[in-house]
Amino acid sequence: MSLADLERRFGRRFARVATNVAVAQPRLWGGFRWLMRRQFDRLAPEWQRMRRPDAFAALEAALSAIETPPGHVLDLGTGTGSAAFIVANRFPEPDVVGVDIAEGMLAEARSNTPPELADRVRFESADGSALPFADGSFDLAVLANMIPFFDELARVVAPGGRVLFSFSAGPETPIWVPPERLRQELAARGFSEFADFAAAGGTALLARKDAGD
Ligand SMILES: C[S@@+](CC[C@H](N)C(=O)[O-])C[C@H]1O[C@@H](n2cnc3c(N)ncnc32)[C@H](O)[C@@H]1O
Repeated sequence: MSLADLERRFGRRFARVATNVAVAQPRLWGGFRWLMRRQFDRLAPEWQRMRRPDAFAALEAALSAIETPPGHVLDLGTGTGSAAFIVANRFPEPDVVGVDIAEGMLAEARSNTPPELADRVRFESADGSALPFADGSFDLAVLANMIPFFDELARVVAPGGRVLFSFSAGPETPIWVPPERLRQELAARGFSEFADFAAAGGTALLARKDAGD
């Protein structure tokens, strides 16, 4: 096994451990941030090539179940921007902001942005555990293969808005949270109308934040 293979294997294990810790004890996330950022900065130049063409099939299936087009969308842990572009292409109107802690990923996302989406899709450096957005800023928050920080998610999603989690390789995805845990954490924060999707080995979960009326 080459050094690169070993590093990759370690990276996948690290991602799963960091995910489990951040979900169970969000306050401990700070201990993982630096290494996580470094790992994804290093992966950034090859990330796009590492993705299977159907890596977002489950995410697309979940998007097709959203009847009302969202106006403001957050792609959390955007990486090279794939989910942000998929959402912007599917719905004709929304502003989409992709955020990530890894500057290398953000640089790739910016340079990948198709010219026709440049006025609606932007990328910002931000940490999902402390987002620089006002309460209720988004109608849809997408997390593709990304660690959820539930309190922040619930804060920035507007009443009646949605969250969409997708995992490209289902339970084999390094950053993966079991669907029952997602449901439990979301239900505790006022989300319901859960719907599961599966496609091309990937899984997704869609939920709606109660409108409060
Ligand atoms: C597995 S990659 C997924 C990238 C992209 N969503 C995709 O599916 O191709 C996880 C991404 O989340 C970013 N990330 C990890 N923790 C984060 C955090 N707390 N806040 C923002 N981004 C984070 C990483 O830098 C990385 O780009």
